[in-house]
Amino acid sequence: MGLSCGTPLALANLKDGEVVVDLGSGGGLDCFLAAKKVGDSGRVIGVDMTPSMIELATANAKKFGKGTSSFIQTLFLST
Ligand SMILES: C[S@@+](CC[C@H](N)C(=O)[O-])C[C@H]1O[C@@H](n2cnc3c(N)ncnc32)[C@H](O)[C@@H]1O
Repeated sequence: MGLSCGTPLALANLKDGEVVVDLGSGGGLDCFLAAKKVGDSGRVIGVDMTPSMIELATANAKKFGKGTSSFIQTLFLST
């Protein structure tokens, strides 16, 4: 998924077992929705530049996630 705007899941056509990277994952909502689509055999990795968003997404994962989502702080740049 890219840019994390709009409704990326509507276009992604995710399937069981796939690995998803969400660039700009914010509080993690799209990651949790993606995790439902890829199931227990899949994996979702959220990436965000903001430490507070990583903290929020990690806390939300404990409440709403199924253990298949993880979050990494980094700044992505285009060349
Ligand atoms: C609209 S929010 C994403 C919402 C998210 N998809 C959700 O489901 O809640 C966009 C996020 O992208 C992150 N972001 C924007 N530019 C970035 C960059 N260059 N590197 C890393 N993260 C970035 C922001 O910190 C923000 O949390």
